[in-house]
Amino acid sequence: MVEVSTSILTVEKGEESKTFFELEAGKTDYFHIDVMDGKFVEKDTYEKMLEYASYIKRISNLPLDVHLMVEDIKSAIEDFIAVEPNIITFHLEACKSKEEVKEIIDYIKQNNCKVGIAIKPETNIEEVYEYLPYIHMCLVMTVEPGKGGQTYLKDMTEKINKLKKYIDENNLENDIEVDGGINLRTAPEVKKAGANVLVAGTAILMANNYGEIIKELKEEIE
Ligand code: DX5
Ligand code: ZN
Repeated sequence: MVEVSTSILTVEKGEESKTFFELEAGKTDYFHIDVMDGKFVEKDTYEKMLEYASYIKRISNLPLDVHLMVEDIKSAIEDFIAVEPNIITFHLEACKSKEEVKEIIDYIKQNNCKVGIAIKPETNIEEVYEYLPYIHMCLVMTVEPGKGGQTYLKDMTEKINKLKKYIDENNLENDIEVDGGINLRTAPEVKKAGANVLVAGTAILMANNYGEIIKELKEEIE
């Protein structure tokens, strides 16, 4: 079953609570919290995302899908675990060793939270295979991480296909999340390739009717 995780990165200043309530009414499955530290990626959204996540926690029961685009993963986990997210996803490229990856996986689990690993467009999908048995979700970035409103990178479709094939052939159960440039035009392609959690920011926040676009994004492909 396909789920939608709405990225709140580009929520309009002053419209935050109205937007969050309308997204909940529109039946988004998750709020996607894009945490950027100004080092791993240029933008710094750290404090803003912590504020938004804390606010959403107070007003909604919907789960938080935290996407860490940070160098200091451990301290970000400590900060964001406070808002009791459903899942915390960190970037493989921010880790200096396999041991560190395994340590972070365990650390997130010890904090009673699901674990995701995100990979940038230029990272080979094979690099995540060895961790799949220990994590819940793989986030395949379909744009270069760092900002919203970019165009879907078509080369990523083959990468999603390969990941889905590997998961099925190895009887694994990981969710495949795609993030960046997902809209009504690109959604059918990524779902067909095997993605089952779609992150969308611009496509949803620009729509007049959040419920309508979320419903269409979730539509099963025939
Ligand atoms: C980019 C973020 C994405 C982005 C998605 O670094 O991880 O979640 O905000 O936004 P759209 O859907 O506008 O590409
Ligand atoms: Zn994201």
